Amino acid sequence: MAINNNAIKISQKHLLGIQDLSISDVKLILDEAKKFISLNKSKNKKLDILRGKTQINLFFEPSTRTQSSFELAGKRLGADVMSMNITNSAIKKGETLIDTAMTLNAMHPDIIVVRHQDSGASNLLSQKVNCSVLNAGDGRREHPTQALLDALTIIEKKKKIEGLRIAICGDILHSRVARSNIFLLNMLGAEVNIVAPTNLMPKDIEKFGVKTFSNMKEGVKDCDIVMMLRLQNERMSSSFLSSNREYYEYYGLTPDKLEKAKKDAIIMHPGPMNRGIEIDTKLADDINKSVIKEQVELGVAVRMACLKIFCEK
Ligand code: CP
Repeated sequence: MAINNNAIKISQKHLLGIQDLSISDVKLILDEAKKFISLNKSKNKKLDILRGKTQINLFFEPSTRTQSSFELAGKRLGADVMSMNITNSAIKKGETLIDTAMTLNAMHPDIIVVRHQDSGASNLLSQKVNCSVLNAGDGRREHPTQALLDALTIIEKKKKIEGLRIAICGDILHSRVARSNIFLLNMLGAEVNIVAPTNLMPKDIEKFGVKTFSNMKEGVKDCDIVMMLRLQNERMSSSFLSSNREYYEYYGLTPDKLEKAKKDAIIMHPGPMNRGIEIDTKLADDINKSVIKEQVELGVAVRMACLKIFCEK
C-alpha cells in the first residue's frame, strides 16, 4: 500500500485518551496504521515522513513493548528520537513533572510520548508544552495506543469488530488498558463482558455499557475474543487476593474456561504476562488461538500512524 506525506486531519491536538476521539478519528488512525503493516515486515523499513522532527519519549514507569515500539516507530519514520533515561535525569534530584516539561519544551520537540504512574499526568503535560503529547499509559486512566493496537489486531484476525462479543478479564480496577478498550470497543460496536472478582471490579463500570461477571465461565461464554489482563500488584495498596493459586483457579484462563468461548475464539493479552497466574502458559503460546505476538507486532504500525498524524498537528 502506498504511503504518502499528505497531512491527515484529526480533531485533537493530543492523544490523551480514547474518550477524546471521534469514531472518524479512530478509523483514520487504524486506516493509516494498516499502511505500515507490510512496511514493517519488509527489508527496508525506513521512511522520511518525519525527517527533521524531534520525538521525545518520557517514560516514568517501566515499559518494554510501548517504549520500544514508540522508539522504533519514530526511527522508521525518520524522526530524531530521544528516549530520556529517567533514572539518570534531574527528576531524581526532585525536579517536578511540570519543570521537566518546561525544560524539554525549551528544546522545541515536535512530539512528546509520556508514560506516568499518575492518572491525568499526560493531560497536565499537554497543557505545559507547545507540541502534541501522546499518552503511553497514565496511572489507571487510559492507554489509548494499546486499545488502538488491540482493535487493529481484532480487525486483522476477525475482519470486523461490530457485533463481536469480547470478554475483558482480570484486574479491571487498576487497568488503564481495560478502560481504553471498553471505550473503544463500545464505540466500534462490540458487546463487552467484564470478568473480575468483586474486589477488582470498579463499582460504576456498568455505566460504560458493559455486562459484568464474577464467574469467568459465564463471562467468556460464546465470546469471540478473550482478553486477559495482568494483576497490577504495583497499584494495589493492600492485599486484594488470598493467593495467586486461588486467583488462577477462579480467574486464570485455562482450557476448561476457554472451552466456554466460541470454538474459533482468540486470546489476547497486552503484556507483560504473569504465566500461571492470569493465563495458562500453553494457551499463551498456542499459535492457533493466541494473538499476543501479533498485538506486539501491530503496536509498531499503530504507533507509526499516531506519530505521523499527531506530529502534523
Ligand atoms: N502493554 C504494555 O503497555 O506493555 P509495556 O508495559 O511493556 O509497555
